[in-house]
Amino acid sequence: MKLYIINISKLVQILDPKIKFVYGKNMNNLETLSNAFLLIENGLISDYGEMKSLNINEISFNSEVELIDADFGMVFPCWVDSHTHLVFSDFRENEFVDRINGMSYEEINTKGGGILSSVNSIDKISENELYKISEERLKKIISLGTGAIEIKSGYGLSTNGELKMLRVIDKLKKNFPITIKSTFLGAHSIPKKYKKNRKRYIDLIINDMLPKIHDKKLADFIDVFCEKDYFSVDEMRNLITNGKKFGLIPKVHINQFNDINGIKTAVELNCISVDHLEILSEKDIKILKESKTVATLLPTCSFFLNIPYSPARKLIDNNIPVCLASDYNPGTSPSGNMNFVNSLGCLKMNLTPEEVINASTINGAYAIGISESEGSITKGKKGNIFITEKISSYSYLPYNYGDNSIKNIIINGKKITF
Ligand code: NIG
Ligand code: FE
Repeated sequence: MKLYIINISKLVQILDPKIKFVYGKNMNNLETLSNAFLLIENGLISDYGEMKSLNINEISFNSEVELIDADFGMVFPCWVDSHTHLVFSDFRENEFVDRINGMSYEEINTKGGGILSSVNSIDKISENELYKISEERLKKIISLGTGAIEIKSGYGLSTNGELKMLRVIDKLKKNFPITIKSTFLGAHSIPKKYKKNRKRYIDLIINDMLPKIHDKKLADFIDVFCEKDYFSVDEMRNLITNGKKFGLIPKVHINQFNDINGIKTAVELNCISVDHLEILSEKDIKILKESKTVATLLPTCSFFLNIPYSPARKLIDNNIPVCLASDYNPGTSPSGNMNFVNSLGCLKMNLTPEEVINASTINGAYAIGISESEGSITKGKKGNIFITEKISSYSYLPYNYGDNSIKNIIINGKKITF
């Protein structure tokens, strides 16, 4: 099966296969090819070059050899959204109204809203129904250019609830052509009934949830919400150390509202990424600079909660690989639109279009362990790309926020229509 895409005004984000992530000044480099074609063979990128080097008349097109005319639109590798909570039951626009009326996210949580209200609604919805609404959300964001995604559990907070969420993610993995990685986030909040005995909940995660998740191979990563009033640094260390025993790769939600001194521990535990970092000290920047850990930043969460934006510029200037993700969830980022994430990266974090494109492709892929096969236009990588309308430069994408310039989505060399 071959797919030729011709008349591409710019093929964007061509990368050497040896590059697994980019950092520092290299984040501002974006290799492109003008007036190009791209060939995807059996789902993988097999060739690209200038249009003038392709003799189209010599190719015989049939059911095995297809052609898409990009009509002078640009071609990008699909976005990799490396941090989402896409599987949830109800949206929480009531809290959005509460915040307009002056309550803070923390106050809403303390009053039993927030994460725990999503836990109540997961409890009530059937697994089938949860799958159906999650599937619709996923289709919507694929049509906005996302071609690989990480999805977390964390609204179950009981063995049955967490397994139910992870089974839904697993079914999405099986039914969708894009790469989906699943993350066990049993340590998202302490459920109400364990408030007076948090140790019992942590024991439940370690002794009951983790072995069952491992048995059924339901997770790739383990995540912990390390934050004041959620999980302490010591609890995070304990949970991650145990998750690693079951083969899970660690990542953490950290420094979102408060700095509780957890970055050093997260780095020592070899977290592949530290996510959020809205509140970040010079000391922690130094620790990250000397580590292999990626900084995953979530600008739509800052936008939505009106909290500080993570210091992306400083992180890049200190050679720390930065990746951008949507954090799609009902409480702090009710949108999985990576195009808007990139716009905010430019507008509010002062990143260049080149930097946000690197952050949302190759670095996102690295943060979920798939940068050898996705995240750039590289021969041998998956043929997961999107074609834009005719645009005058790649900067137009983050500039033109709120609009969708993406015309076609190709996953594994096949055009996707929902
Ligand atoms: O990444 N901070 C923790 N978790 C989510 C929010 C979850 C929620 O409010 O439902 C986040 O922002
Ligand atoms: Fe999150």
